Amino acid sequence: MKLSILGPPGSGKGTQSTRLADRLGIVHISTGDILRTAVKDKTVLGKKAHEFINSGQLVPDDVMIGIVKERISEKDCKKGFILDGFPRTIPQAEMLDTIIPLDGVIFFDVSEEACVARLTTRKICPKCGLIYNPTTHPPLVAGKCDKCKGPLATRDDDKVETVKERLKVYNKSTEPLVNFYKNSGRLLHIDASPPPDEVFEKLVEMVQAHERGSARD
Ligand code: AP5
Ligand code: MG
Repeated sequence: MKLSILGPPGSGKGTQSTRLADRLGIVHISTGDILRTAVKDKTVLGKKAHEFINSGQLVPDDVMIGIVKERISEKDCKKGFILDGFPRTIPQAEMLDTIIPLDGVIFFDVSEEACVARLTTRKICPKCGLIYNPTTHPPLVAGKCDKCKGPLATRDDDKVETVKERLKVYNKSTEPLVNFYKNSGRLLHIDASPPPDEVFEKLVEMVQAHERGSARD
């Protein structure tokens, strides 16, 4: 399966796509994680992307398209992949259709208020990238990663002003993709407001049903 999860910042894309990729035995590709690693490692890409990320703006399409084209052509993507955070603009979606068209795009529907509340309390493990929330998805030991046992951190772009800017950018540049994929019959819709385990259960059911449907086509 070649899937993408589409939704506003804080809708749970990272939380769910990591689990779904594990369950389906396919690769999880987060463009946000790729960029954050590049920033941390101070690579040429990282230096270019840093300002865009921290001001809540999108990294230019040509840069993102180059990254994803290269990543999905790798051997581990042969069985399928789940894109998290890509495509994010119409030009990115159009480009993807010219190389590897997606089988399905799952739209995570959740209110802006919920996204702001989730993001301004989110914690992440700077080492392995696992995502936590003190109220909705707490770690086993407060402030420590379950896997790495190291201290959790706050993402630089989770400041309330940056979160609001990211939501504005989402509404302007990314939300139009809902209709783009609806019009080509590839949009799956999920209510992403219930607790994480409940969303995951529905997500798995939905993807499996979609896969069975695609196999029949
Ligand atoms: P990216 O890293 O993709 O950020 P985003 O889209 O803003 O989304 P987030 O990662 O903030 O949220 P999420 O939906 O993954 O939610 P999460 O699971 O963490 O991109 C960052 C930046 O990189 C962009 O702003 C841009 O600059 C650049 N970029 C990346 N891709 C790009 C592209 N294609 N083109 C151009 N630029 C690009 O969950 C959030 C919180 O909620 C957590 O605390 C979690 O525990 C909690 N939570 C999750 N699910 C639930 C639930 N069901 N109920 C309650 N709480 C929940
Ligand atoms: Mg994410």
